[in-house]
Amino acid sequence: MKVLNFGSLNLDYVYQVNHILIPGETLASKERNTFCGGKGLNQSIALAKAGIPVYHAGMIGEGGEILLETCEQNGVNTKFIRKIEGPCGHTVIQVDENGQNCILLYGGANRSITRDFVDEVLAFFEKGDILLLQNEVNELDYIIDKAYEKGMMIILNPSPYDSALDACDLSKISLFLVNEIEGYQITGEKEPEQILSKIKDLYPKAKIVLTLGGDGSVYQDETGVYHQGIFKVKTVDTTAAGDTFTGYFISSILEAMPVEKGLELAAKASAIAVSRPGATASIPLRDEVLNWKNE
Ligand code: RIB
Repeated sequence: MKVLNFGSLNLDYVYQVNHILIPGETLASKERNTFCGGKGLNQSIALAKAGIPVYHAGMIGEGGEILLETCEQNGVNTKFIRKIEGPCGHTVIQVDENGQNCILLYGGANRSITRDFVDEVLAFFEKGDILLLQNEVNELDYIIDKAYEKGMMIILNPSPYDSALDACDLSKISLFLVNEIEGYQITGEKEPEQILSKIKDLYPKAKIVLTLGGDGSVYQDETGVYHQGIFKVKTVDTTAAGDTFTGYFISSILEAMPVEKGLELAAKASAIAVSRPGATASIPLRDEVLNWKNE
């Protein structure tokens, strides 16, 4: 069984600020750093650091070589990453004194996926292989349809949620990883119990992980509902915390760990990520997660 993550690769320009800007305001930042990121890349690195071999498919633009190098250094297979002319996907991220962030995304090369490229990539995979997706590349609906035709198991983190997801046949998804806002956007429900219940009505075969910020996470499948709290740490930067959780939780499924253990592993990994700056740079290795003591 092979694992493919078809997703974004971004250069994250991260600005330290006293507070997140309000409309019309001009504010001097205290520091700027450039990190490797993108929900796609972060989740591939999290899978690889958790010990799962993963192929990443996507596009980088000018200046994006460091994203490719980061994949290689972390053991992500780069056979399906293409370099194209034009700007790389990138973000402008403000991180405030409490480690909270806001992210402005420019899709760049991530929005240059062609159907021919999708067909070329998927030709390498077969029934039973895993496909992980987020919503930072174009042609998401086509990727889902073609992967489903092949019999791949599709996992979707519909983030950031936008109208591209309305064009996707979500009945083809086996596992959703969503936060409360995305849960609301999919179901129209605001309360966690209602979101889970509506997902079950809409997509009876799908499993779901609903992340609840400070209230932890909930997993639901046909066997029941499982809760996991957060591990409290000093927050430095929340960027990629969700991606770390996603990669680690998927790794636990692929290793057939009990759900409770998988949720705990993912919660610990994301707590460590929150305690460090940057996106891919903040994601811990599996041994570190296993040996971590929350002091
Ligand atoms: O989830 C965090 C990621 O979202 C950042 O690395 C940024 O690139 C955006 O895609």
